Amino acid sequence: MKAYRAALLRFDDQGQPLYDSDGLLVVGPDASGRKVVRAAGSHDALIDRLAGVAVEDLRGHLIAPGFIDLHVHYPQTDVIGAPAAGLLPWLENYTFPHESRFADKAYARGVAEFFFDELARHGVTTALTFATSHPVSVDAAFEAAQARGLRFITGKVLQDRHSPDGVRDETEQSLIDTEALIRRWHGVDRLGYAITPRFAPTSTDEQLRGAGELAAKYGDVWIQSHVAENRDEVKWVAELYPRARSYLGVYGDFGLLRDRAVYAHCIHLDAHDRILMRETGASAAVSPTSNLFLGSGFFDYAAADAAGMRYGLASDVGGGTSFSPFHTMLAAYYIGREGHTKPGLSLTPGQLWWQHTAGAARALGLERVVGNLTPGHEADFVVLDPKATPLLERKTAQADSLDELLFALIVLGDDRLVAKTVTA
Ligand code: GUN
Ligand code: FE
Repeated sequence: MKAYRAALLRFDDQGQPLYDSDGLLVVGPDASGRKVVRAAGSHDALIDRLAGVAVEDLRGHLIAPGFIDLHVHYPQTDVIGAPAAGLLPWLENYTFPHESRFADKAYARGVAEFFFDELARHGVTTALTFATSHPVSVDAAFEAAQARGLRFITGKVLQDRHSPDGVRDETEQSLIDTEALIRRWHGVDRLGYAITPRFAPTSTDEQLRGAGELAAKYGDVWIQSHVAENRDEVKWVAELYPRARSYLGVYGDFGLLRDRAVYAHCIHLDAHDRILMRETGASAAVSPTSNLFLGSGFFDYAAADAAGMRYGLASDVGGGTSFSPFHTMLAAYYIGREGHTKPGLSLTPGQLWWQHTAGAARALGLERVVGNLTPGHEADFVVLDPKATPLLERKTAQADSLDELLFALIVLGDDRLVAKTVTA
C-alpha cells in the first residue's frame, strides 16, 4: 500500500465533483492483485487508519483521475494540423495516404510508442483509438500498451470500398482478421478490442453485416465508428443508403448499436436518432477541437441531455488539434456555448472534467473500473501542478471556489500542468 497527500478531485455517482483541499489517496492491491484505490478522502479522516503506510507528500498539487480519450486515431499522430477544406478532402489528401504506411509493423510500433508517450505527458491514461486497416497496426499498438500496463482499446479499421489502394481491405479477410485479433487481444491484461468500421461510406453492406455478427458473438467487445460529423458526409450516406431512416439508422440496421458502441461526433442527428442512441446504449464521443478544425458543426448538449444519451470527450487527433484534455475541455466549452445553431449552454467546469474522466468511463461501460478515484477503481491518476506557469500560479491563487479553480486549470492548462501521470 502507498498513500499520496495532495488536494484530491473525484466524482460522486451523479457526476458532481468531490474535492478535498487536503486529501489522501491510498492505493494498493485488491484481492486479485490489481492495483486499485483502497481509500480516498480528507487527510485528517483517513490518516489514523494508515499506520505503517508510506505517505508521499504532494501538498500544493492536485490529484485527479487519469483522463480518458474516448476517440482518437493513433496513426494520425502526424496528421495533426493538415490543411483541408473539410472532412472528405482531408481524408483523401492527407489521412488515407498517411495511414497506408501502417502496413509496416516497425513503423506502426514507432508511432505507437510516441503516441503513448504523448498521452502520458498529457495525463491521458486510457484511450479508445482507431488503428488502421492493417492488422499489424493493431498488434503494434497492443504490444506497446501492454508493455506499459495501460487500460487501452483499439481495433483494425474495416474499409472495403471508397478507399484508395494501400488502405482498402478485402471483405472476407477483414472479418477473419478482426475475429483473430479479438481472440488474440481482447481481455488480455488491461487490453480490449473494438470492432472498427471506419464509417458507413467506406464499408460494403457485407462488411457491416459481418461486423454486426461479430458484435453479437462477442458481446463485451467494443464497437467504434464515426457518425453524422459533416453535412457532405451525411448527404453521401443518404445517397448510398436511400432506404435507411437516417445515417445512424444504417448502423442500427446492421446490429452495430449497443452498449459499448462509441460513435464519434453525433452532430447532425435528429431527435429520433438521439432516442435510438439512448435506447440501444450507444455513446457519443464528442470531439470539439476536431469539429472546430474541420468546420464540422457543434454537438448539441441540450438535445443529448433531453434524450438521455451518454457521451464523453475525445481529442479525435489527427482531425483534432491537441492531445491535451485541457484544450479539449476548453473547446467543449466553446462548442456548448455556441448558441446560434442550437441552444447555447454554459457547461460547468465540473461537467467538462467529468466528461473526460468518469463520464467517459461510463460511456465505455467501465464506470466501476477507471475514470474515478473512489475505492475499487484502478489506480490511474494525474498529479497536477497549479503553479506550472506564472499565469496559472497567479490565477489559481485567487480562486475562491472549486468552480473557479477548475475553470482556471481548463482555460489556462496544457501539458505543463501535468507533473506526473501514474498508471495502475
Ligand atoms: N470519418 C471517417 N474517417 C475519419 C477520420 O479518420 N477522422 C474523422 N474525424 N472522421 C472520419
Ligand atoms: Fe475520428
